[in-house]
Amino acid sequence: MHATTYRTHTCGDLRLSDAGKEVTLCGWVFRIRPFGGMTFVDLRDRYGITQLVFSPQIDAALARQAEQLGREDVLQITGQVVERSNKNPALTTGDIEVRVTQLRVLNTSRTPPFTLEDQTDGGEELRMKYRYLDLRRRPLQQNLLLRHQVARAVREFLDSQGFVEIETPHLIKSTPEGARDFVVPSRLNPGQFYALPQSPQTFKQLLMVSGFDRYYQIVRCFRDEDLRQDRQPEFTQIDCEMAFVSREDVLQMFEQMVRHVFRRIRHVELPEFPRMSYAEAIRTYGTDKPDLRFGMTLHYLKDEHANLLEEHHFPVLDQAEVVAGISVPGAASFTRKQLDELTDFVRRPQIGAGGLIHIRWLTDNTIKSSIDKYVPAETLLSYAAKFEAKPGDLILLIAGQASVTRRALSELRLELGRRLGLRAADQFMPVWIVDFPLLEFDEQQRRWAAMHHPFTSWHPDDDALLETEPAQVRANAYDLVLNGVEIGGGSIRIHNRTDQMRMFRRLGLSEQEAEQKFGFILNAFEYGAPPHGGIAFGFDRFCSMVIANQEGIRDFIAFPKNNMGRDVMLDAPSDIDPELKKELGL
Ligand code: AMO
Repeated sequence: MHATTYRTHTCGDLRLSDAGKEVTLCGWVFRIRPFGGMTFVDLRDRYGITQLVFSPQIDAALARQAEQLGREDVLQITGQVVERSNKNPALTTGDIEVRVTQLRVLNTSRTPPFTLEDQTDGGEELRMKYRYLDLRRRPLQQNLLLRHQVARAVREFLDSQGFVEIETPHLIKSTPEGARDFVVPSRLNPGQFYALPQSPQTFKQLLMVSGFDRYYQIVRCFRDEDLRQDRQPEFTQIDCEMAFVSREDVLQMFEQMVRHVFRRIRHVELPEFPRMSYAEAIRTYGTDKPDLRFGMTLHYLKDEHANLLEEHHFPVLDQAEVVAGISVPGAASFTRKQLDELTDFVRRPQIGAGGLIHIRWLTDNTIKSSIDKYVPAETLLSYAAKFEAKPGDLILLIAGQASVTRRALSELRLELGRRLGLRAADQFMPVWIVDFPLLEFDEQQRRWAAMHHPFTSWHPDDDALLETEPAQVRANAYDLVLNGVEIGGGSIRIHNRTDQMRMFRRLGLSEQEAEQKFGFILNAFEYGAPPHGGIAFGFDRFCSMVIANQEGIRDFIAFPKNNMGRDVMLDAPSDIDPELKKELGL
């Protein structure tokens, strides 16, 4: 099916049943092995590898020419398919080889700066610079081929449910999703700028007003924020919106979509998608993105509501807002060095805990602890019991400010899960996180900010609290978390002008500011906007999870940016022509 004027087959096609055929193949020289006057070449393309034989017995001149070939030269060869005497079961074409009778070097290659084996010797920056070579490597080729399959499975599902794919503009006015906008200067409107969309949020809502009812788009989004392994400045969303739906309808629909993709790509039937409130997630796991593949949940000796601690005259405990910890099964035997490593881990500036207290409950029922100077053994034992721990377990405690302590314990839990091999690579545990707070107080700007975005509606029971107790209002929002990775998030939206204005006012916008920034959507709400809601999945994250069950997304994007947001291959961003600058009025 891949036959063209250049080739009859690909390098992955030929089988024993093809023996005797004359074939023409094209591909890259992967490996060359001279062997007793003959030359063996592994010819590679995206479909596989085929072994070629150049022998003086077939053609002496050709055999000499083959000796001069270099890695990554591009060849077109013609020859005869023969059965191999030493078969290679690791290759789909391992039963045959091609005895070459004609060779055309279509192009030569310089020696690549790193090997193109599955395990390459190239460092990150070098591979980014020569991304087109890195993309010749099989693991990256597989990732991109599978990414394409994931996109197909998504479209297949959404099409079957009557969703319409509609494109929305990339040169727009700022959308408030919480990150900074990338901006584009306008030549025709000197001194003015477009913003690149952080998401098509307002457009998809306008499409609901227009009556499209079920919309989706696999779409590029742009956010100028600090980068991490699961964040890129430009990334792709599967962006979806539906009219006439409740939260339940949206969750059901997209649970089905995720299930469909896992069946198609991984042949895996996902377990039930439980629902967990934001409050419960934070309390039990210290994060709104819990990895449910393992337990080791947080237990509290002291929190905002209760204090089970005795008075110890030990300021670290006595003065802490929260004292909480995890029990690590079977880890009482951890060495001094291991415990020090964990302490250093929670003290790293990114995590920010003051320290780590350990209580080792040894199998002989004695207690060894970093705080046994301050707290008697029997009290420590009674604390250990609160953790549902048993002899042989290690209890790790952090004391401090509530949010820092929870975050540190969450990271510690993940780290221990990793070290103890509890985060199984073949296990998938989805969970819907629901009932997020609608608003959070921005300490820096001294004002309330929308936790999801300002178009999210709230729980009807909390309506009266919007003006009086904003922190208590629950949003009609949800995130889908898979193995500790937030792969999607959305909400049921506000769909009338009055509530949207109340929200803007709550966020500190005056009537005029709201009108100036969001007049278009406020107006649209006055022309028969239907109730609607939706969700957007991070497509890159979704792919990295479906394909490899891993957090990092770079290996699933053809041309990603580095940690500084640079494309090291293009050397972008870069300065621009002074002429162009002048024209743009910069
Ligand atoms: P949100 O901002 O939660 O929602 O984004 C949706 C999903 O997009 C992914 N994501 C990212 N992936 C890679 N790099 C990034 N920088 C990045 N930022 C976000 C995450 C996230 O869950 N308009 C709303 C959706 C809605 O309400 O329907 C929105 O964009 O997986």
